[in-house]
Amino acid sequence: MAAIIIDGKAVAAKLRLQAAERTAKLKERGTRPTLAVILAGEDPASLSYVRGKEKALAEAGMESRDIRLPASVSEGALLDSIDRLNGDPLVHGILVQLPLPAHIREDRVIAAIDPAKDVDGFHPVSVGNMVLGRPGFLPCTPHGVLFLLREYKIPLAGTRAVVLGRSNIVGTPLANMLSRREVNATVTLCHTGTRDLAARTMEADLLIAAVGKPRFVTADMVKEGAVVIDVGVNRVEDPSTKNGYRLSGDVDFGPVAEKASYITPVPGGVGPMTIAMLLQNVLEAAEGSV
Ligand code: GUN
Repeated sequence: MAAIIIDGKAVAAKLRLQAAERTAKLKERGTRPTLAVILAGEDPASLSYVRGKEKALAEAGMESRDIRLPASVSEGALLDSIDRLNGDPLVHGILVQLPLPAHIREDRVIAAIDPAKDVDGFHPVSVGNMVLGRPGFLPCTPHGVLFLLREYKIPLAGTRAVVLGRSNIVGTPLANMLSRREVNATVTLCHTGTRDLAARTMEADLLIAAVGKPRFVTADMVKEGAVVIDVGVNRVEDPSTKNGYRLSGDVDFGPVAEKASYITPVPGGVGPMTIAMLLQNVLEAAEGSV
């Protein structure tokens, strides 16, 4: 079987057009949807993500408040700037780009964000609401994955889903979201402690790779006809390119696409969806609907 390639870029483009329309309506009523983006340090991948987010906001007519701090910023100074943004009625969402410099405690910083402005969905209150199935901000990447699966009308109820990777940002929330009644998949969450990994992945009707290792999922780990979602964004050295690197997913795309029924490419799969879902969350924060 040759897989259908899931076009995340196209789905995200449609969502971004809708976001522009919602933004225009809010502006007519005098609200300018605004996201504050905090970046500490100059990690090249983080810089590139932040630029991508700010560009998408601008294209939808939304505002971004760009807060760039040196890598040496103290935890206290970072917490102070979050406090100011929490109290600023013109700021609807606050995003702190991760990872933070090593001397800063990430959990302290995330917990300092007002949950009403937590458009990343990383605050313990947001995570709690998600687990309990209550309204709240959903984390953008897992939400984007679910949106793509729904958009392609891929049936999930009763299927076996295997999630590789238990990060707070992707694997853990995705495993939770897939197991909820609205989706109804049976979920196995695999991680570095999993024995017989290939035996688990071979059982997967839906296989989601979020491990951060280029080409980790090879064709011999994939069941014929499986749906394969690649969340990996790995920079791999490639002297033949302009930047000296190229992006590689967690999945060995070519051979796996021969076996899968659906597959997401990297780039152009899940990545654009993360940004599209962020815009939705900012709009919800600005509309006061979460
Ligand atoms: N670092 C990697 N992914 C993300 C994300 O979705 N949000 C933030 N804030 N940082 C990240």
